[in-house]
Amino acid sequence: MTDPILDIENLSVRYRGATEPAVRGVSFSLGRERLGIVGESGSGKSTVGRAILRLLDSAEITADRMQFEDVDLLNASERQMLKVRGRRMSMILQDPKFSLNPIQRCGDQVAEAFRTHVRASKAEARAKVIEMLNAVQIRDPERVYQLYPHEVSGGMGQRIMIAMMLLTDPDLVIADEPTSALDVTVRLQVLNILDRLVHEHGIGLIMISHDLNLVRNFCDRVIIMYAGRVVETLAASDLDNAQHPYSRGLLAAQPRIGGSRGPLPVLERDDSWMQPEVRS
Ligand SMILES: Nc1ncnc2c1ncn2[C@@H]1O[C@H](COP(=O)(O)OP(=O)(O)OP(=O)(O)O)[C@@H](O)[C@H]1O
Ligand SMILES: [Mg+2]
Repeated sequence: MTDPILDIENLSVRYRGATEPAVRGVSFSLGRERLGIVGESGSGKSTVGRAILRLLDSAEITADRMQFEDVDLLNASERQMLKVRGRRMSMILQDPKFSLNPIQRCGDQVAEAFRTHVRASKAEARAKVIEMLNAVQIRDPERVYQLYPHEVSGGMGQRIMIAMMLLTDPDLVIADEPTSALDVTVRLQVLNILDRLVHEHGIGLIMISHDLNLVRNFCDRVIIMYAGRVVETLAASDLDNAQHPYSRGLLAAQPRIGGSRGPLPVLERDDSWMQPEVRS
């Protein structure tokens, strides 16, 4: 791992009104690499992402340390966060249709996002947007600029979101199930674009997913979460050698091409999984 961009120690998050924390004792650091966070629905993956961006008004966040470059995320004021969020760190969500404003042309939205953070004339912002739409391999950026969100496909919408996020050249990108609404070929294109960004721009990428095969192929390291805790952290290439019984159960429950056609095993849970992490 390169020098950490992000360093999290012992993060816990409890939503207001909840008896149990949604996330507890989570620690990891991130360099200029691709880190996958996997785990079943409700295991706390998105909560970790939102806590890093401090997008959790209705929750109590505690940690021993939460450092993003020179910013202490635990103690930064909202005013400081406004300068960081969307500029130095960004999040890509699952479905672009919910993230784009339906009544504003796609290009104008991206331009507006740019001008929120960077002083630029309308013409400069437009030129920058066209450049970024090109960078995410949109073939006819002048035309796409003029389209409304309902006129673009899911894959194109996701690329527009990536272009929007890239405009300010962030150091950290959190992608929360960025491809789960896309079909397989478009998914590969979007992953390739993200991959290039990590290599060319030196971005640290957190890829949240419940798809083990995706993180195995796409990420450098993987964190496995269960019931709000990290149960295991390992190199993606070692995923098949995961030790924790939950990780092993997840792997066994994956269908494989050429594998047996019998029913897949069902994950049997165990209370001892609530114990802290196995590190390898
Ligand atoms: N705004 C909220 N208020 C109260 N509880 C919440 C809120 N958001 C999430 N939770 C709870 O926190 C826990 C973790 O949720 P989270 O969305 O982080 O899981 P996830 O791993 O991202 O799941 P998924 O794969 O379904 O997206 C769940 O029990 C969920 O019900
Ligand atoms: Mg989620």
